[in-house]
Amino acid sequence: MKRTVLLLTPLAIALVGSGSAMAQGLPDGEGRDVYENVCGACHGADIVIGSQGSKTRWEETVDAMKNRGASGSEEDFKIVTNYLARYFGQSVNMNTATPAELETDLGLKKAEVDAIVAARTAAKIANFDALVKVPGVNVKELTALKARLKF
Ligand code: HEC
Repeated sequence: MKRTVLLLTPLAIALVGSGSAMAQGLPDGEGRDVYENVCGACHGADIVIGSQGSKTRWEETVDAMKNRGASGSEEDFKIVTNYLARYFGQSVNMNTATPAELETDLGLKKAEVDAIVAARTAAKIANFDALVKVPGVNVKELTALKARLKF
C-alpha cells in the first residue's frame, strides 16, 4: 500500500505542474518558452514562482539542474538564466533605485527610466497601479516584472 502512494505522488505533481496552468503563472517575457521546455520537463512553474535571487544564484540553480539531468543547449541554459535573473531577480524600489539600477537591473529603456524619474520627483509613486499610469512606460513589461517592484 505504502509503495502505491510513493509511486502516485510524483505522478500527481507532474500532472499539476504540466500544461497551461504552468504557462499562466510564469511572467510573459523573452525566454519563457525555453524555460518551459528545459525546466518544465521535471517540475512546474511553482518551483520558481515566489522566489527571488541574484543572477549568480540563478546561474548556480541552473548548473545544479544540469547536474540533475536537465537537457538543453548551452544557449538554452543561458536564456533560462537570463529569464530567471530578469523576472525572478531581487526586489527594486521604484522610488529609491538609481536610474542606472532601473536600466540595468530591470532592463528598462532609457526613455522609460526618465519618465519614471520625472514622475517620482513630482510625487512618490504609491503602488503598481500608479506606476503603470506614468506616461510612456511599457505596461506589459512592467506587469511581467511586477513581483520584483516595491514602492
Ligand atoms: C531532470 C529533472 C529536472 C529538470 C529538467 C530541472 N530540475 Fe529543478 N529540480 C529537480 C529535482 C529532482 C529537484 C529537487 C532537488 C532537491 O531537493 O535538492 C529540483 C529542484 C529545483 C529547485 C529548488 C531547489 C533549489 O535548488 O533552489 C529549483 C529552484 C529548480 N529545481 C529550478 C529548476 C530550473 C530553473 C530548471 C531549468 C533549468 C530545472 N529546475 C530543471 C529536477 C529537475
